[in-house]
Amino acid sequence: MTNASLNPADLRYLAAAGGAAPSLHNSQPWSFRPTSDGRGIAVYADTTRAVPLTDPDGRALYISVGAAVFNLRVAAAQLGRDPLVTLLPHGPDPAPAAVLDLSRRAHTHDADLYPAIALRRSSRLPFANRDVPERIVGELMAAADAEDVVLAVLEEADARRVLNLTAEAERRTAADLARQAETREWLRPEEPATDGIPYQALGPQDHDARVPVRGFTGHPPTPPTPTQRFEALPQVATLTTRFDRPEDWLRAGQAMERVWLTATLHGLRMSVLHQAVEWPDTRASLRDPHTGPGYVQMVLRMGYGPPGAATPRRAVEETLQPTETGGDTPAADGSGARTDAPVVSGPR
Ligand SMILES: Cc1cc2nc3c(=O)[nH]c(=O)nc-3n(C[C@H](O)[C@H](O)[C@H](O)COP(=O)(O)O)c2cc1C
Repeated sequence: MTNASLNPADLRYLAAAGGAAPSLHNSQPWSFRPTSDGRGIAVYADTTRAVPLTDPDGRALYISVGAAVFNLRVAAAQLGRDPLVTLLPHGPDPAPAAVLDLSRRAHTHDADLYPAIALRRSSRLPFANRDVPERIVGELMAAADAEDVVLAVLEEADARRVLNLTAEAERRTAADLARQAETREWLRPEEPATDGIPYQALGPQDHDARVPVRGFTGHPPTPPTPTQRFEALPQVATLTTRFDRPEDWLRAGQAMERVWLTATLHGLRMSVLHQAVEWPDTRASLRDPHTGPGYVQMVLRMGYGPPGAATPRRAVEETLQPTETGGDTPAADGSGARTDAPVVSGPR
């Protein structure tokens, strides 16, 4: 145990790591605030950055926030602290999505993942026809399992089933003009930007239509996107939670990021194929009938190939908010009082 408060440099270090997490359309729907005792950090879901047509339940928003929580845990480990995480603590309204009590000093192996935070990127480019070795698949499954989430790396028939569902969802999204317009709002053709997706980070369309990449720039793509040949059998994995509540979405986000950072250290690239999760019926069909109950929260494509281009991030000055005076920020045990942080809404 230590009483050492987090100093401003620690807080900036933590917030920078949290802010580097992946998020739907790079919406970065989070903010961070030191706890009133100065020994922890609270993470708030920022619903002003929601993507409501694509993500009406706030599922992707909470998954994104969960990924930020995991990066904070890794950065805390790098600072020599062993975080105690409380998800959705009761108390203040609006409540934080998570509170990390960082008062315990201890070495944890999560610090080993720290270099991967800056290296990790979505790669929407074609991958090589090269299998991920069993040993690494095992490590990725263990990474998800550590967060109480199941990573299934799919065999050929299941991978094709999931890719077909993704293609079906992509067709539906393509026919939905309001969703298309919403997605385009997050494209950033002009630099500089602090959020959204720059054109350079988008990939080609698959010449053989095996990988149903998201049509960020419309159908047909405008400006026209070249096609390229993708890997013959895409390696696809799903992340499944036991229940389907916001805390499960936060868990899925943490698992996704633990898997992604672990994969990054092994030189693996990943991208998200999220379209089928965005329609209730295709989401339900993602579930593997053989593996029993559970809710698929994420579809990931993995393989070996070039890295994706970097995407921008909001400045720490914007995401890291001050502790309120009067001691009314949430305590690490979630018993704090009201704050003026962004309103957390959505199903609870
Ligand atoms: C919940 C969620 C859904 C996403 N869905 C997609 C998707 O369908 N297609 C895609 O190419 N990227 C998807 N992404 C990746 C984001 O676009 C990406 O994380 C963001 O633009 C930041 O880029 P980076 O991952 O390179 O840091 C998703 C990410 C999250 C967390």
